[in-house]
Amino acid sequence: AFVVTENCIKCKYTDCVAVCPVDAFHEGPNFLAIDPEICIDCDLCTPECPAEAIFQEDALPEGMEHFRELNINLAQLWPVITEVIPAPTDADEWDGVPDKEQYLLI
Ligand code: SF4
Ligand code: F3S
Repeated sequence: AFVVTENCIKCKYTDCVAVCPVDAFHEGPNFLAIDPEICIDCDLCTPECPAEAIFQEDALPEGMEHFRELNINLAQLWPVITEVIPAPTDADEWDGVPDKEQYLLI
């Protein structure tokens, strides 16, 4: 399955959800999570993310491995999102900021 990682936090562009053929994305307050039970590994979402936040679970960048578990848990908690919504107005300012996990809202 594919996994949403830290750089999505506070960027939440949602371009990814429009291309997912199986509606695997779930929406939280400032982050999205992929349900690995639903994801069919099509890799359509990865190039759509302006924040380059999506990775295959076996190719997660160093330090992002725990996002695999986080996606599993948050996807169960949050509702499915299938349509693009406006990004936060300050999304571009947060793109690439390190250590954003502290701002993750559940
Ligand atoms: Fe959806 Fe494909 Fe991305 Fe999985 S890899 S979340 S199925 S778009
Ligand atoms: Fe997040 Fe990128 Fe989707 S910022 S909401 S994973 S397009």
